[in-house]
Amino acid sequence: MPRDGLTAPNCYDAEPIPEAARAEIERLLSSGDLFRYTSENAPVSQLEAEFAAFMGVRYAVCVASCSAALFLSLKALDLPRGARVLVPAFTFAAVPSAIVHADCEPVLVEVGENFRIDLEDFRAKFDDTIAAVMISHMRGHTSDMDAIMELANARGVPVIEDAAHSLGTLWHGQKIGTIGKIGCFSFQSYKLVNAGEGGVLVTDDPELAARAIIMSGAYEHNWKKHPGLQNSFHHWQNKLPLYNTRMQNLSAAVIRPQLAEVPRRVRDGLANHDYVAAKLNESPWLDVPPPLGPETRAPDSLQFNLVGDWSDAEALRLQDEAKARGVGVQVFGLSQDNARAYWNWQFLGDLPDLPKTRAMLMRACDTRLPARLTRAELDFIADAIVTAAAAVKG
Ligand SMILES: Cc1ncc(COP(=O)(O)O)c(C=O)c1O
Repeated sequence: MPRDGLTAPNCYDAEPIPEAARAEIERLLSSGDLFRYTSENAPVSQLEAEFAAFMGVRYAVCVASCSAALFLSLKALDLPRGARVLVPAFTFAAVPSAIVHADCEPVLVEVGENFRIDLEDFRAKFDDTIAAVMISHMRGHTSDMDAIMELANARGVPVIEDAAHSLGTLWHGQKIGTIGKIGCFSFQSYKLVNAGEGGVLVTDDPELAARAIIMSGAYEHNWKKHPGLQNSFHHWQNKLPLYNTRMQNLSAAVIRPQLAEVPRRVRDGLANHDYVAAKLNESPWLDVPPPLGPETRAPDSLQFNLVGDWSDAEALRLQDEAKARGVGVQVFGLSQDNARAYWNWQFLGDLPDLPKTRAMLMRACDTRLPARLTRAELDFIADAIVTAAAAVKG
């Protein structure tokens, strides 16, 4: 809808893939060399070296998706069948699914109004039966990693970070995804780096890396194309299942030139977010929770709460009013079958009652805010949301 001469910004299109990817893709198409283990130093291997250097970790293992990385992380930890894994109840359905896929049992933990794990519930549920912790930093909101690591380390329980939305986020200056034993990232299209699909797990632990590499599908002696780790590979040869969830060379060719874009996307994404957040916070009806003290965020979307007394009907009207103004806003808990609303995860069987998470999801709003937006487009989005709230609450 035209508004002040500006058309509603398209928040769904990704940025173009950098020009530098084209020659490499053409080379791969001409040679047909798409499988990561055919040639020496294939694009996937190069990406692993570059991503490990980028994150400052010893090992990076590229796979088909972040879900595959989460699944392999649990498998690499060699958890017994039925092991109980703490996971925040505000995440994407693929995360508890990865836990189920790994023959483990997700234990859902409450998430508060600030979109981060509720530490009281986390502590209460962290009993002797918990074998691992999987922290989804959902929409890039970092949970209190100091408190989580302190408790997990005291109990000797490994932490996996689901950093699908957190590439570039810092905690006390340390990169998210490098704090727990394993960090997992997504290259699916709605993430900071876009390959359509793809994922990577990072770790400093050689045994975990070797096990994940073999199980990702480094069959026979393909592990020789991964530098180092030879003793571990010899040890695990033929002892682990092959889940064959590798990345292919075309994905790596699309991802590699985007790594150089990450600092710019992080910088602009954060500036965009904070600019719109400040405008929303001027409304008496809207609230964007602040980051935690040690956190430097890298957002490419914006979440805000409806504050005051909103009925479901009013919250739904906000969605409509924003849409009429050209901006897509989704109340997580009010759209049918939303994959981020835990009560829709019926594949888990009996679902727990999680009143805090439910209350948050019923009034928490989600809107996309890609790093490429201009100031005028950000003004358009902020105005649309603020005036939509005013139109509903008058
Ligand atoms: C929080 C979170 N974790 C994990 C995933 C899984 O990522 P992928 O699509 O790469 O499997 C997603 C997907 O959007 C997600 O939102």
